[in-house]
Amino acid sequence: MRKFFKWVGIVLGLVVVLALAGFGWASWKLSQAAKRTYVVNDPPLVVDRSAGAIALGAHLFATRGCADCHGKDAGGTLFIDAGPVGVLYAPNLTRTGRLAGHTPDQIAAAIRHGVRVDGKPLVFMPAEDFHDMSDGDVAALVAFLQSTPPSPKASGVSHIGPLGKVLYALGKFPLFPAEVIDHTPRARPGPVVAATAEYGAYLAQGCSGCHGKDFAGQHVPGTPPEFPDSQNLTPAGLGAWTQADFHKALREGKRPDGTSINTFMPWQAFRGMTDNEIDALWAYLRTLPPVASKKKHA
Ligand code: HEC
Ligand code: HEC
Repeated sequence: MRKFFKWVGIVLGLVVVLALAGFGWASWKLSQAAKRTYVVNDPPLVVDRSAGAIALGAHLFATRGCADCHGKDAGGTLFIDAGPVGVLYAPNLTRTGRLAGHTPDQIAAAIRHGVRVDGKPLVFMPAEDFHDMSDGDVAALVAFLQSTPPSPKASGVSHIGPLGKVLYALGKFPLFPAEVIDHTPRARPGPVVAATAEYGAYLAQGCSGCHGKDFAGQHVPGTPPEFPDSQNLTPAGLGAWTQADFHKALREGKRPDGTSINTFMPWQAFRGMTDNEIDALWAYLRTLPPVASKKKHA
């Protein structure tokens, strides 16, 4: 009996040692990744500060997901509070917030490369989705952000919890988008704005982070298990949908059968898209190869 307890003690001790070693390794991996620096050297942005450009920037900020995290007034919000995984705040981007003193190119590096002023990677800022955003669109966002009324809100301090560190180290929690982005300098003229599949492909980059690169739907990376899977947007998924159904889904959050689409799908932001933008997205989605759904919604 004594021998048995001794063995149980040894095994438990080993489990604790292994768990601590695993956690130590995960913490080390995260701190190394946070220290890495990246060089961003895209051609300098030309920022038009006309009322039209600022209005375009406001439209992009509201409909491309920025406001969902950074707040409608760009004053910053708490957008993930997942206990042991972590607590994430999107910072205040108004003139008195984090961007005070940043040049347009530094702001563009944050948006398209996920890189901060000191060259280190931003945490969880989904720059992958914005990596191909055109020079004109990014310049409009800069013009808008630099013209916002100051917000007194302090940017909260994000914190990655122990489970978040381990998930990151295991490749299950994409904390630093800069790690997977191609930082080769290039100009981005962007497509012509029209209800075409080409412009739709450009817009749909903002959908692929959640719906998957093949748009066939998936469990959205980094979200808790209880979050709904994104859906299949290829013709195999939206097969019987009409263009009018698609408008209704993005504007009202309703499927053709009348059921509601979860608000984690940012339709409340997409509802502000122009008809042109929604038609372009639809035109593009119709050109996708049909990919069988991995999972059907209940
Ligand atoms: C999923 C939430 C999320 C979305 C969507 C998002 N951001 Fe962010 N953003 C963040 C977080 C979190 C940070 C802070 C990261 C850090 O400090 O490490 C950030 C940082 C930034 C910064 C850099 C601030 C600095 O410290 O230099 C800029 C600029 C920015 N975001 C602009 C945008 C714009 C413009 C959009 C839309 C095109 C956008 N963000 C969409 C979460 C988000
Ligand atoms: C933040 C993640 C996220 C982004 C970004 C996102 N979606 Fe979704 N989407 C979802 C989730 C999750 C669902 C499933 C919601 C549910 O089950 O109620 C969904 C569902 C949908 C549906 C309903 C499909 C069905 O069969 O029920 C459509 C249509 C859709 N998304 C289109 C888009 C388009 C177009 C974009 C880009 C402009 C986009 N989504 C961007 C997460 C996202």
